[in-house]
Amino acid sequence: MPHSASSIDVTRLASWQALAAHREQLDDFSLRQVFAADPQRFATFSLNDCGLFLDYSKNLIDTRTRELLVGLAEEAGLQPAIRDLFDGALVNGSEQRPALHTALRRPIGDRVLVDGVDVMPEVQRVLKRMSELVGRVHNGLWRGYTEKPITDVVNIGIGGSFLGPQLVSEALLPFAQRGVRCHYLANIDGSSFHELAAKLHAETTLFIVSSKTFNTLETLKNAQAARSWYLAQGGSETELHRHFMAVSSNREAAMAFGIREENILPMWDWVGGRYSLWSAIGLPIALSIGISNFKELLAGAYRMDQHFQSAPFERNMPVLLALLGIWYGNFWGAQSHAILPYDHYLRNITKHLQQLDMESNGKRVRQDGSPVTTASGPVIWGGVGCNGQHAYHQLLHQGTALIPADFIVPVSSYNPVADHHQWLFANCLSQSQALMLGKSRAEAEAELRAQGVDDDQVQRLAPHKVIPGNRPSNTLVLERVSPGRLGALIALYEHKVFAQSAIWGTNAFDQWGVELGKQLGQGVYARLVGSAKDAAEDGSTQGLVEFFRGRHRG
Ligand code: F6P
Repeated sequence: MPHSASSIDVTRLASWQALAAHREQLDDFSLRQVFAADPQRFATFSLNDCGLFLDYSKNLIDTRTRELLVGLAEEAGLQPAIRDLFDGALVNGSEQRPALHTALRRPIGDRVLVDGVDVMPEVQRVLKRMSELVGRVHNGLWRGYTEKPITDVVNIGIGGSFLGPQLVSEALLPFAQRGVRCHYLANIDGSSFHELAAKLHAETTLFIVSSKTFNTLETLKNAQAARSWYLAQGGSETELHRHFMAVSSNREAAMAFGIREENILPMWDWVGGRYSLWSAIGLPIALSIGISNFKELLAGAYRMDQHFQSAPFERNMPVLLALLGIWYGNFWGAQSHAILPYDHYLRNITKHLQQLDMESNGKRVRQDGSPVTTASGPVIWGGVGCNGQHAYHQLLHQGTALIPADFIVPVSSYNPVADHHQWLFANCLSQSQALMLGKSRAEAEAELRAQGVDDDQVQRLAPHKVIPGNRPSNTLVLERVSPGRLGALIALYEHKVFAQSAIWGTNAFDQWGVELGKQLGQGVYARLVGSAKDAAEDGSTQGLVEFFRGRHRG
């Protein structure tokens, strides 16, 4: 049994108890004061690796906190858990599978055994097939049914078969090979299909049906809609292979759908959906940015893999982020965590990290089935700066909850417009500064007096102007969003999430919670369309079914 499947209750560890006691001592901890007292604080709590600079000095920690958190990681067995992950142990206990997304970014010559078989030659074979395919499309050799080259690629997939590829292909738009546009169709909502189809021409469009299982409702429905649309636009069944391909571990189902065997790229059950952008699920990325840039992406993630495995915990970026998350979630009562990218190209990173973190760490039992006795994964939310500043940052500054935030910002812009980038960067820094410094009652009053406000008004207004401050954040700075740095950034969060699950003893690689809704969906659908006559299990659902049917009758 892998170490991470052990049944340690982390809250019983001596290091956990020590952290709880230490937390009480930090009740009066003031970030303003510790910065004033220690000119070295920024240097002490920052690190630079894999093309990413992490400033974690604006956290409610001192060196003792870091020492205790590192002690927790050690006592909880994080080091052997990391070894298990990379060695292909069955870290996904409930499904009895390894989680080997890291194998996908390993260099040629490495060996990774699954059931005694080295999977690396197969990984390299698939990468080679992707490379050939990308070459054919980019060089105009892959032609549609009217012999025109492909101009548009539509990825039909959802969850991990959508969010990662979409994040990366859009983040790396400056690296895109102009001439091939990538689109994403995920939701079952007919409107998304309709709006997308209106922009496409069937004769120059290639659909990639991207589904590990090939039995995901939304994806199959969209794939059927795409096929009907293609036929209605003038395409024929015999030419279907020029316009439809699949990435899936379920070859039979893809072939039953009508996709030719040579148009199916494989996936493996040892790669989880939300960790799959590094596999052939990343084909739309490679089609957008070219295979060498795709390999750079893999290389960047590999650098982070190396760092995660070898850096001592107190200088290990994913481990530090994981421990800070545990510090706030388990010792300060934080229930959510904001991801705030200050970069247009990274605008989708919050959505990807939402699935990565919440599907992985939204768990209530440990690997052995016993309950988690402390809070597990937080709600991940956020969005692109500065837009958030004019929307939800108010709650970050003055709401009653403590919400740690990660600011992510590049130093340089691909598209400098006047001094916009300086302003963007300044906004990012000033938001984390405002969260930390806040505004005291005395400062609020002084500010009002300086504006000539009379004493009564000062007393009335000051409480509204006070900002508590002392709110923690990390700032991740990268030079520019490049394939390598983006690979490292995504892998950083993958490992953060895994490190937390290993410490809590949970399984980061299953997602049983999403199944119930899918099961119930079958019954609700049958009642909506009238193929099931019995009433729904509860009055609310039945009432809503009747409301829907009532509107569709007339
Ligand atoms: O329902 C959740 C989920 O299984 C995710 O974990 C996964 O990324 C998504 O659905 C899509 O699954 P598939 O690639 O098999 O269509």
